[in-house]
Amino acid sequence: MTMSATVFVPAYAKINLTLVVLGRRADGYHDLASIMQTISLHDTLRIGITVDASLTCATNRPELQTEDNLVLRAARLLRATVGDERLGAAIELLKETPIQGGLGGGSSDAAATLLALNRLWGAGLSTDRLETLAAQLGSDVPFFIHSGTARIGGRGEHVAPLPDARPTWLVVARPPVSVSTAAVFAQVSTSEYADAEDTERVAQAIARGEPLPKEHLVNSLEAPVMRAYPQVALTRDKLAASGAPFVRMSGSGPSLFAPFARLAEAEQTLQRARAEGVECWLCHTISHAQAQIASALTPSPSPAEEGS
Ligand code: C5P
Repeated sequence: MTMSATVFVPAYAKINLTLVVLGRRADGYHDLASIMQTISLHDTLRIGITVDASLTCATNRPELQTEDNLVLRAARLLRATVGDERLGAAIELLKETPIQGGLGGGSSDAAATLLALNRLWGAGLSTDRLETLAAQLGSDVPFFIHSGTARIGGRGEHVAPLPDARPTWLVVARPPVSVSTAAVFAQVSTSEYADAEDTERVAQAIARGEPLPKEHLVNSLEAPVMRAYPQVALTRDKLAASGAPFVRMSGSGPSLFAPFARLAEAEQTLQRARAEGVECWLCHTISHAQAQIASALTPSPSPAEEGS
């Protein structure tokens, strides 16, 4: 195997500052009005290109070591689109974002793979083309082609960039339950459908550079998840008791986030919540520019020992 270029790429997670379910669509998906934000919690991909047509992905999480993991599906989709079956890649995935946590970890890995291989393979696909490929891989993937702060519509495929939200410290917690996205969407009652008003208010505040209006940070999936999984509500209560003034669920859960203006307050809440047995991390928002720099890493020639 000949390696000609290798890069490390971070795949940042996201939180949903808002997530409103507008209604159910004929295709079974739900129309959303959401604002997504990349955060510093991330997986790391090491991507090397090969010319022997092999696509491999090794990972530190055995349950993701499958032929249909999102990284390999993204690589195969891009290669089929480019139409050059000689293209290959050797990928290693260090998984640190909780799996199936509502933080978009797998979706971000897929988008990072598309962005990196588009460069490393010299494919030259436009951002629009990459977003179209991303939508074929999952509803949350198109957002990660852009990253930063963005307004999301449709089932997730409509991504309208917003100016960066104010830099904010976050405590992110993972309640000890697994939640199926499909099951959560199926549990939303029609009375929980809402309009895009809250999302619109938050988008306006962000566009004006104002602090996030907490009263409009809503998630239509939070009540159904807390009904079905009491441990999510318990973790929320522990975070609040540990000093978090505001706690909201991200995506279809179960992960929760709490924003903080000051590091000292975030750190104190983190330590107290950990003492209560809550699995949590201290992280922060990632701007559009930060995410773009990360995905635009220039490949450097690999050391000679990489070749064979
Ligand atoms: O697109 P993705 O595979 O991530 O979605 C997983 C499941 O979540 C879908 O099969 C669907 O049941 C549900 N979903 C939905 N509406 C969305 C996104 C996801 O109903 N906008």
